[in-house]
Amino acid sequence: MTIAQTNAPIGTPIAAGISALERYGKLERPELAYTPEVAEATAPIYEKVKHIIPAIEWPALAPTIHAINKLKKERNAVILAHNYMTPDIFHGVADIVGDSLQLAIEATRTDAEVIVQCGVHFMAETSKILSPEKTVLIPDMRAGCSLAESITGADVRALRERNPGVPIITYVNTSADVKAECDICCTSSNALQVVESFGVDRVFLIPDKYLAANVGNKTDVEVLVWDGACEVHERFTADELRDYRKIEPNVKIIAHPECPPEVVAEADFAGSTAHMINWVKTKQPEKVMMITECSMADNVASETPGVDFIRPCNLCPHMKRITLGKILDTLVEMKDEVVVDPAIADKARTAVERMINLKI
Ligand code: 13P
Ligand code: SF4
Repeated sequence: MTIAQTNAPIGTPIAAGISALERYGKLERPELAYTPEVAEATAPIYEKVKHIIPAIEWPALAPTIHAINKLKKERNAVILAHNYMTPDIFHGVADIVGDSLQLAIEATRTDAEVIVQCGVHFMAETSKILSPEKTVLIPDMRAGCSLAESITGADVRALRERNPGVPIITYVNTSADVKAECDICCTSSNALQVVESFGVDRVFLIPDKYLAANVGNKTDVEVLVWDGACEVHERFTADELRDYRKIEPNVKIIAHPECPPEVVAEADFAGSTAHMINWVKTKQPEKVMMITECSMADNVASETPGVDFIRPCNLCPHMKRITLGKILDTLVEMKDEVVVDPAIADKARTAVERMINLKI
């Protein structure tokens, strides 16, 4: 798997064979009981998720949420969670939530010594690239991404050889190896601006062919593609959206730009996960359908009580590997640590920082 191949052990402690567990020590596994103290401490959290988690299930979740929130302090850890995390994680234990761009920026700002990345591997790797001195942990090392797995650093080198002089922009959904070979990074929040920032006629935007096509439709720059796709968003179809509109004529449909262009063309708005959330909060439509990963609607619904969410959705099996139980294990056992070869990290950091410094 690409993930394993691209992450050579790094840095002093690991090179010396010292694991995060040895550096930090193991903590006692907390008792998980729904005591009156736990009920009281977690009551404000339950308020935010009661629309989606039945009251009968809360006593099974609350003790783990409470234990994680206590352990975070003991470990001087911060939890960065992507918008696709389930509501128990998103509202229950996350310190910072956001889209890929927001999480990358927050990774550079936090004072915490330990980052627990609740998202997929490339996100944890991006945090490690930007904060090499921090300990970055992911609750399940197998949380990959079909986009990140569609291309390697060697593929990018070959692309460059065949297309000398054409800038290569990489979507953040790639391994450190790939970022290290590219000129600049982008996310779905800023892809169009990054493409236009070069002031040239042609650029590569890899590896998501649909994001590249959607950006290409908005600019005069010729956007060259790689044959990768998000396994979650590529499954939505324009016919499906037209059928939803027949059933719900008043619904507003908003889509992620990893969807095929004909799906985006059928939508009322397209944007990154953060832009989609912002759109719902600002426009307050009566009915909305989010064409993206399932948990987004669940997470935003508590903050937009007047909006009726119609919920077709596709699950991201990689994001769903991250669970409360695994986050607890991560903090108790200080695993799994994300490491990046320092030479690759240095080059990849240049590409990510160029994007952040564009301030778009
Ligand atoms: P954004 O949160 O940047 O829109 O990305 C969506 C995604 O698929 C991340 O894996
Ligand atoms: Fe990758 Fe798509 Fe899952 Fe995001 S939703 S992690 S792009 S497979």
